[in-house]
Amino acid sequence: MSDVVSFERVGNIGVITIDNPPVNAMSFAVRKGLWEILDEFLADPGIAAGILICAGRTFIAGADITEFDKPPEDPWLPKVLLRIEASPKPVVAALHGTALGGGFETALACHYRCALNSASMGLPEVNLGLLPGAGGTQRLPRLTGIPKALEMILSGKPMTAAEGKASGVIDEIIEGDLRAGAIAAARKLVEQKAPVRRLSELRVNTSDLPADFFQQARAKLAKEARGFFSPLRIVECLEAAAQKPFPEALELETRLFNECKASPHSRAQRYLFFAERTITKIPDIPKDIPLRDIKQVGIIGAGTMGTGIAINFLNAGIPVIQLEMNEEALDRGVARIRKTYQDYVDKGRLKAEVLEQRMALHTKALAYEALAGADLVIEAVFEDMKVKREVFTRLDQVCKPGAILATNTSSLDVDAIAAVTRRPEDVIGLHFFAPANIMVLLEIVRGAKTAKDVVATSMALAKRIKKTAVLVGVCFGFVGNRVYFPYIREADLMLLEGVAPERIDKLAYDWGMAMGPLSVVDLSGIDVFHSALMEWKDRPADPAAFRMLGLLREQGRLGQKTSAGYFKYDGRKPLPDPVVADLARQEAQRLGIARREIGDTEVIERLLYSMVNEGARVLEEGIALRSCDIDVVFTSGYGMPRYRGGPMIYADMIGLGNVLEATRKYRDRYGDRYWTPAPLLEQLVREGRTFEQWSQDKA
Ligand code: 3HC
Repeated sequence: MSDVVSFERVGNIGVITIDNPPVNAMSFAVRKGLWEILDEFLADPGIAAGILICAGRTFIAGADITEFDKPPEDPWLPKVLLRIEASPKPVVAALHGTALGGGFETALACHYRCALNSASMGLPEVNLGLLPGAGGTQRLPRLTGIPKALEMILSGKPMTAAEGKASGVIDEIIEGDLRAGAIAAARKLVEQKAPVRRLSELRVNTSDLPADFFQQARAKLAKEARGFFSPLRIVECLEAAAQKPFPEALELETRLFNECKASPHSRAQRYLFFAERTITKIPDIPKDIPLRDIKQVGIIGAGTMGTGIAINFLNAGIPVIQLEMNEEALDRGVARIRKTYQDYVDKGRLKAEVLEQRMALHTKALAYEALAGADLVIEAVFEDMKVKREVFTRLDQVCKPGAILATNTSSLDVDAIAAVTRRPEDVIGLHFFAPANIMVLLEIVRGAKTAKDVVATSMALAKRIKKTAVLVGVCFGFVGNRVYFPYIREADLMLLEGVAPERIDKLAYDWGMAMGPLSVVDLSGIDVFHSALMEWKDRPADPAAFRMLGLLREQGRLGQKTSAGYFKYDGRKPLPDPVVADLARQEAQRLGIARREIGDTEVIERLLYSMVNEGARVLEEGIALRSCDIDVVFTSGYGMPRYRGGPMIYADMIGLGNVLEATRKYRDRYGDRYWTPAPLLEQLVREGRTFEQWSQDKA
């Protein structure tokens, strides 16, 4: 008898219940249990129909993702589902919670689907670098038509029960008790002698499908899903649904699913699924630690950053008091917030009355005393230690006991800021990324004395405002900027060595980055980047390091905002500028740097391995808790594609031995200033382990 699947007879209805907490994932044990119970269900002459229902918080939320790294065990899901579908007795799926992936596919293999109004259903496999591999690409279009099914599978977005009902996916919405409702539905089918309806036996309606539908779909994906492995294969499956008989198309689906599963893209995306859950777990902080109540947030500064931060809280319905030193700056800030919302209203993404509700939560203030009642205050003032310390001295005087005092610094020493207060335990860093209302990453910087409940409250608050929060320690640049600087440094150095800026950016872009490194600096501002560098006390005493950046700044080429930086700009389009190439040549000569041919592999290795080596140091020093924390920082805040997984898992996947070997090669070629291998990298290669294993063993 199975521990996770049970069978009960209610009159002539067989009730099959899956109980596999927390999300009823379709593990081997569930598949095996179902298989055995199907024997019983099918053999019992007293049973005329069945229902498939789940205990706990949700219907099956998908295949068990943890099993994808192991060889599949029979009975595999497509086989189980074919057996359910083939049953001569009708089976009713009863959906609540989130019926996702293999869960939704199970429901589609049943003959009838009912759901609570609160249920949702979808095929999110694409987010894991996969495609629905248990008939989803074939059964769904038989109900919804090809365009809707393709849209759903490519976006991975779930539909509500009401949408499901409207598109024929759900036969009945159940009010009240789901089990009773599903049993009643099954009884009705028996009474009416309703024929067993198998989706695989339906024809896919292709009558309205434009002749070039699939060609158009592929062309669209070339841009929107650049570099991802599974989306084009999803199109192939849907094309097969339109053109081939069900068994043949199903076979293709299985083959392409297995190709996706074996791809490094899916391995990386599956890793990120768990990484994004792991980062919420802080080893020394109990899950049930009491949190501080955050009912009102104060924000100091109404510039781009301050207003961007404010929008996050207003969106979440949390009142904000925004402080500025003069009225005009404050009014400009409020106007910026209103305009952001107005743009949403104009695009039909926000209702006008919601705009007013959010603005009503915003209060202006010109004096620190107005922050006396705030539960959390975040400063977003100029990135200068002296200014920050003055702000915190004032906050210490006016804020109520227990208020959390946060700095939005992107690199400065949070402990030095906390030290000017009498309550360093209440001080924390909340590093939002610009534009703060759009970027999902939030680095939460834990100071040496930050209290545990302050950390936990900040993490919980991040979830409320829909940020991906990564806990980091204090050092220059924390995790993100610290690991990113070597990447920019190498790009800048390679200009002096003779590589064209457009080549560097193209190689990084083709590798998968959202933008090349030099375009990123041009976008955020050469001056902004330069002043951040100036705050770095231990920056390398190397006249060549970031030298092009410094020169461009001296020449007033501040990036996109001055239409010239590493590139010149036609609007927002970067164009190669011979002036920059000349400048690099002259400066290389002055510094005695040899110009030479650098191959594509070296460009990519220097950009990426410099990050990996710094990442290893960040781990050694405990600035990041685990390698997956670094990876989430880079995939959620620095434009690294999810199918690469992040710099550390990328290194793990190509082999740390290879990374070490290349690092040593560059040390021999360029000296040991930047290319001394991090001791952790050396150690892991010696031990034959990965960053991921090291992080897991440490936990
Ligand atoms: N397999 C294994 N573990 C899973 C899982 C799955 N499919 N889905 C969730 N979990 C685990 C999580 O890792 C987490 O574990 P933890 O507590 O140890 O960290 C726990 O279940 C709870 O998950 P969440 O913290 O995410 O809980 P939420 O309530 O926030 O969200 C959810 C629930 C919406 C179901 C969300 O977990 C989710 O989106 N899960 C993945 C759904 C998915 O992608 N399904 C498709 C799988 S691939 C597939 O089915 C292939 C098929 O086509 C053959």
